[in-house]
Formats: sequence, C-alpha cells, structure tokens
Amino acid sequence: MLHKDIFEELMDEAEIERTVSEIADRINADYQGKQLVVVGILKGSIMFLADLFRKIRIDDCQLDFIAASSYGSGTVSSGFIRITKDVTCNIAGKDVLVVEDILDSGNTLSYIKGYLDGKGAASVKVCTLFDKPSRRKMPIHADYTGKVVEDLFIVGYGLDYNERYRNLPYVGVLKSEIYS
Ligand code: IMP
Ligand code: MG
Repeated sequence: MLHKDIFEELMDEAEIERTVSEIADRINADYQGKQLVVVGILKGSIMFLADLFRKIRIDDCQLDFIAASSYGSGTVSSGFIRITKDVTCNIAGKDVLVVEDILDSGNTLSYIKGYLDGKGAASVKVCTLFDKPSRRKMPIHADYTGKVVEDLFIVGYGLDYNERYRNLPYVGVLKSEIYS
C-alpha cells in the first residue's frame, strides 16, 4: 500500500533487490584481492548500504560512515558542506567506495570525495542508488548507479524529505503539494 503522500512508486522491493544485486556483482568483480573500505554517507544510504554490504564478497573489507551537512533543509542543497561525522577507519592506501542514496547537484559527493582523497586513499569511487544527472552542478559522476531519475523528489528506502519517509520499503515520488 502506497503512503498517502506518495504520488507513484518509482522502485518496488523486487526491483530494489535486483538492482542491489547487480551493483554488488560489479563491485565484487572490480575489487577482488583489494583492501576495500565501504563508506556510507549518513543517513540516506543506510538501507541501500545494509543490503549492498551483505552481498559484498571481498575478503579484506571494512565498513565506515561519514556524515555531512549542507546547511538547510528542504529539497535543494545550499552548496556549503561541512563534515559532521568523520570516518574512523584509517583509509590511507586503501580503496574507498563511497555509498550514497542519490547524486543530485553533486555538491555533497564532490566535497566528500575530495575530503577522502585528502586522507590518502588509494582510490575513491562513488556508488549511488539513484542519479539525477539533469541537476548536476559539480563535475562528478557515479562509478556505480542503480537508476537514473528525472528531476523529481523521491523518498523511501532511506531517502527522506525533512527526515520523514526513510522507513518506506520502496522508493516513491513525493506529491509536490507536500514540499511546495
Ligand atoms: P547534492 O549535494 O545536491 O548532490 O545532494 C545530495 C543529497 O540531497 C542526497 O544525499 C540527499 O540526501 C538529498 N537529495 C537530493 N535529491 C533528493 C531526492 O529526490 N530525495 C531525497 N533526498 C534527495
Ligand atoms: Mg537527505
């Protein structure tokens, strides 16, 4: 049953499962034999990360989290980013995979990518469940993407609007009257 604030479903539970498995297969092939640190961006990535991480079959694999704030709520990020929770693993010399719910303007991810590069990671790649390339302001791309979406505001499966809807087990398009 759709939540009353959802206009339509964008990705149901079966498609989420298929999408996560496909991404995990690619990661498992690409990072075999490497030292991988998977870094989830709080809070939006947690559902995707939990499902993805249990499908990772890399022997030397660590899990960490980072959180960033872009000053302000609502549907548009301001572009001024600061780290509010740092990683605790030593990532120097390791291959880092940053996991995010959605790549939008790219402000958050390009800042975090640069920040983790600055800690001496051997490589920093980006894995995002959703990508809205039409809204990009920074020159950043995702190395692994689940689904490209139009310029719609989506929630559920970790994605929020003002901290709500993260618990929905599917991803849906939020009715525009909720945020306009
Ligand atoms: P960016 O810095 O503009 O790329 O914003 C990325 C962040 O904005 C994501 O991590 C999300 O938290 C949030 N965001 C962007 N688009 C959406 C959306 O459609 N639904 C929910 N959150 C979104
Ligand atoms: Mg968010």
